[in-house]
Amino acid sequence: RLPGQSFASNQPAGHPVPSSFAGPTSNEALLVWVAEVVALTTPNAVVWINGSDEEWAAMAARLVDAGTMIKLDAYPDSYYAASDPDDVARVEGRTFICSVDEKDAGPTNNWMEPAQMKEIMSDLYQGCMAGRTMYVVPFCMGPLDAADPKLGVEITDSEYVVGSMRIMTRVGDEALRLIESVDTFVKCLHSVGAPLAPGAADVTWPCSDTKYITQFPEERTIWSFGSGYGGNALLGKKCYSLRIASAMARDEGWLAEHMLILKLISPEGDVSYIAAAFPSACGKTNLAMLEPTVPGWKVEMLGDDISWMRFGGDGRLYATNPEFGLFGVAPGTGWHTNPNAMRTIEKGNTIFTNVARTDDGGVWWEGMTKQAPDHLIDWKGRDWTPSGVDAQGNTLESAGEPAAHPNSRFCTPITQCPMIAPEYNSPVGVPISAIVFGGRRKTTIPLVSQARDWQHGVFLGSTMGSETTAAATGQVGIVRRDPMAMLPFIGYDAGDYLNHWLEIGKHADQAKLPKIFYVNWFRRDAEGGFLWPGFGENSRVMKWIAERLSGKAAAVHTPIGLVPAVGALDIDGLEVDGRPMSTEQVKQALAVNVDEWKKEIPLIEEWFAFLGETLPSGMSDELAGLKTRLGLL
Ligand code: PEP
Ligand code: NA
Ligand code: MN
Repeated sequence: RLPGQSFASNQPAGHPVPSSFAGPTSNEALLVWVAEVVALTTPNAVVWINGSDEEWAAMAARLVDAGTMIKLDAYPDSYYAASDPDDVARVEGRTFICSVDEKDAGPTNNWMEPAQMKEIMSDLYQGCMAGRTMYVVPFCMGPLDAADPKLGVEITDSEYVVGSMRIMTRVGDEALRLIESVDTFVKCLHSVGAPLAPGAADVTWPCSDTKYITQFPEERTIWSFGSGYGGNALLGKKCYSLRIASAMARDEGWLAEHMLILKLISPEGDVSYIAAAFPSACGKTNLAMLEPTVPGWKVEMLGDDISWMRFGGDGRLYATNPEFGLFGVAPGTGWHTNPNAMRTIEKGNTIFTNVARTDDGGVWWEGMTKQAPDHLIDWKGRDWTPSGVDAQGNTLESAGEPAAHPNSRFCTPITQCPMIAPEYNSPVGVPISAIVFGGRRKTTIPLVSQARDWQHGVFLGSTMGSETTAAATGQVGIVRRDPMAMLPFIGYDAGDYLNHWLEIGKHADQAKLPKIFYVNWFRRDAEGGFLWPGFGENSRVMKWIAERLSGKAAAVHTPIGLVPAVGALDIDGLEVDGRPMSTEQVKQALAVNVDEWKKEIPLIEEWFAFLGETLPSGMSDELAGLKTRLGLL
């Protein structure tokens, strides 16, 4: 088969639809489904994606011709895309868990009856690919040689999605060969929802004002309509690897989590694998690629967003990263904050979305360098200068706006990361020693604490709060509860999800379970300044965590858990604003302030009440215990 060979349908109206559709597979279920989607969406042509470089080169050239992508001179095989200004982030308000029973979607998800949703969306899909090419993208989440490979096929009418899926997952012939031999693959249907009338001119970023991001957990099916952006459209990512996979994991006894995976190596060569959950745009990519400032310590990266964890034969919890690429938030990523991400991007093969462009064919975003270049083209395609004024002194339309959208992204192959752990592609994964939860909180939550045991750790994860970011549409900076950073991604009832976490712990050998920690890099002092410098200095916290695991670091009990004993956190040589960090400031960063906790308790109570009757009793027990220790009961 030639790269990109198409199996043109060209069905004239009224032409009988074949019962199955020609394709490079003998999997009848797949062929029938493709035929059904062709009949429903009426594309001009159907192309099966084989995943070859030649195929992508030809497609990228067409996308550049069409104006959808701009080729960047500064990096090899790299492209820039600007989305529609109304299609820049995940749309949680338009995201649905269509379980058969409403109670199985729980209070944290939007729900609609599956049949009703299918009726609404089938109407939207009717003829929605007219004038466009339909792509069939076979993919595998996780290593191709896994014992139980998690397969999928995304049907999409977006070439941008094909190019991004190709980076983010293992796509093409190898995945299709696996699908050949199994019956179970997740059907992922995506359309930008913008049919083209004959002869009509296309826009560079087709999408629709009507958007639906729908998961059918029992059927293991995903239907997405109207958006071309990130997690709304790259269906292997959030929709499959978190929402659908969390339902699979509940049924099969494992965990599908919103977690980075890193390998921490001590100066003595001791290795700890750590998984860490943070809400979107709270520094997961930066932590995954940490460059320790503590002498002798090393970090290697295995994943920056999603972790699937299963018990191994030895009773330990093993993590794999289902993804194959990084879809990182660009703003804030720079040589001073995340040099490894910069090195990864520099190698090329990257698709940038909604960043700003430099005059020499490169990219820029807020936080890449301290000083912005003198002139940029902003993400909306307008001239932009740091002062907001052009050379003639005229105020620019872009004045006062950021050059890059706050949720602009780089999509780049994980294999290009210079500090990737050699075992990143292991089909069994790596044994996890510590799980870290973290949110973005100005107050209350100390820099680091350790859970007393698994149930207490699940409680810490369940009560996690974080200020909202630009990664989802809606107001930024308000604290919302985000259990395990999974609020937008739990594919079933949140109380049942917490119970599943408890069950995982109950059936394990307690000594082999990962220890659970809770961090907050974002605590501020009374003047609003950050109490902790973050970034590479977070290695000091990681060191304390590793030394807790090996029994070397001291901790003291507090009402909320174990915090570093005085002197246990290594602040040797740590400078803040050019001055050595004072022990007083460390104390503030680690403080358990009872007055702050008195304000926190009602918020947790309100959250638990919202979760309702499926909240496991273990969680209310933990809350009662916390109140007792704080002297509130
Ligand atoms: C997205 O927004 O599309 C996405 C993939 O992830 P996140 O929100 O976690 O950054
Ligand atoms: Na609901
Ligand atoms: Mn994420």
